Amino acid sequence: MVKCILVKRKDAEKVRRELLSMGLLDIEYIPKKTSDGVYFPVKGAFKNFKLFEVQLSKRARRVFSLEDSLKGKLTPDELKLVVKSFDIIGDIAILEIPKKLEKKEKLIANSLMEVHRNVKSVFKKTSPMLGIFRVRKLKLIAGENRTITEYRENNCRFKLDVSKVYFTPRLSFERKRIAEQVKPGEKILAMFAGVGPFPIVIAKFQPKVKICAIELNPVAFKYLEENIRLNRMQEIITPILGDVKDVILQKKFAGWADRILMPLPKGAEEFLGVAFYAARKGCVVHFYQFASEKNPFEEAEKRIEYSSLFSGRKVQVIGKRTVRPFAPGVVQVVVDFKITD
Ligand SMILES: C[S@@+](CC[C@H](N)C(=O)[O-])C[C@H]1O[C@@H](n2cnc3c(N)ncnc32)[C@H](O)[C@@H]1O
Repeated sequence: MVKCILVKRKDAEKVRRELLSMGLLDIEYIPKKTSDGVYFPVKGAFKNFKLFEVQLSKRARRVFSLEDSLKGKLTPDELKLVVKSFDIIGDIAILEIPKKLEKKEKLIANSLMEVHRNVKSVFKKTSPMLGIFRVRKLKLIAGENRTITEYRENNCRFKLDVSKVYFTPRLSFERKRIAEQVKPGEKILAMFAGVGPFPIVIAKFQPKVKICAIELNPVAFKYLEENIRLNRMQEIITPILGDVKDVILQKKFAGWADRILMPLPKGAEEFLGVAFYAARKGCVVHFYQFASEKNPFEEAEKRIEYSSLFSGRKVQVIGKRTVRPFAPGVVQVVVDFKITD
C-alpha cells in the first residue's frame, strides 16, 4: 500500500506538476486513475489533503545509458573496459569493442538496443578509417544485417551506407555553426562533400546561395546526389564527382568562391593551394586538421601561412576552435581564415 492524495481529474496535470516541482511526488509508483479522480503517490507531510492507502504498481526502472544497462551483466572490471561513446546513425549503431570484451559483444550490442529502442542493427568497428575515402570496416554483432539507413539532422535528411561512405553525426554542431555564418548570395565551394552534410545543412539555413559540392568516392557521390534531391536542393547545390584538385583547375573555378569548406582533417593541407586559386578576395576558408591536444592550432596556422606565402595571398585568421576529441591526445580542429588580398 502506498500513501496517496486524491485529485480531481481536471486538476490532475496541474497538481502532478506542482508535486513534482516540490519533490513531493513518489515517482517510484504509477498514479492510479479511478472514477473518483487520480491517486498520486506522495512523499512527506500533507496538511490540507486527506491521505489514502492505495495499491499502486511500481514503475519499471528506466535504464538511461548503456553502462547502466550493463551493470549486473558484466563484472566491474569488464564494465570499466566498455567504450562509453558510440555513434547512432539513423537506426544503426556503431561501436568499439575492446579485444578483452569480444566474448561479450553480443550481450553489449543487445543491451545497447534495449536502451536505444530505435536501433535496429549494431556493428562493431574492425578497422580505423581507411584510404582516401575514409571508410572503416564493420562487422554486424546484433540485429538486422543492413548498412543503409536514413539519418536526420538540423531538419535535413541523409540517406547513406555506413559501410561504403564516411559519415559522422559528431559534426552536427560544427555544420550548424558554419551554416549560421553564411550570407545570402554567397558562392560556396564544398570540398570533400561526402554524402552532403555540410552543403545540405548550409542550404537549409541559407537557401539564397550557390554551392558546388565535390566528392571523389563514387558511392558517396551517388548518395550526395540522392540527398540533394531528398532535401529538394537541386537549384542550390551542384554535385561534382572527381578529385578536388582536378575539378577546381579544370572547371575554371579561379577566383569564384566566397566561402570554401575543407573538411578533410587528414590531408586538407595538400589542397590549400587550390583553395587559394578558387578564392576571391574576402573569401572565408574553414580549414580542418587533426592536431595534438596540447598545441592544437600551431601546425594548422603554420600550414595556412606557408601556403598563403606560396600563393601570394594575404590571410587573416578569424576564428579557431577544437571541434571534437578524436583519439587519446588528438583533437579535430578548425581554423577559419579570410583571404584579404
Ligand atoms: C572526412 S570525409 C568528410 C565527408 C563529409 N564532408 C562529412 O563531413 O561527412 C572526407 C571526404 O572527402 C573525400 N575525398 C578525399 N579525397 C578527395 C579528393 N581528392 N577530392 C574529392 N573528395 C575527396 C572522401 O571520399 C570523403 O568522402
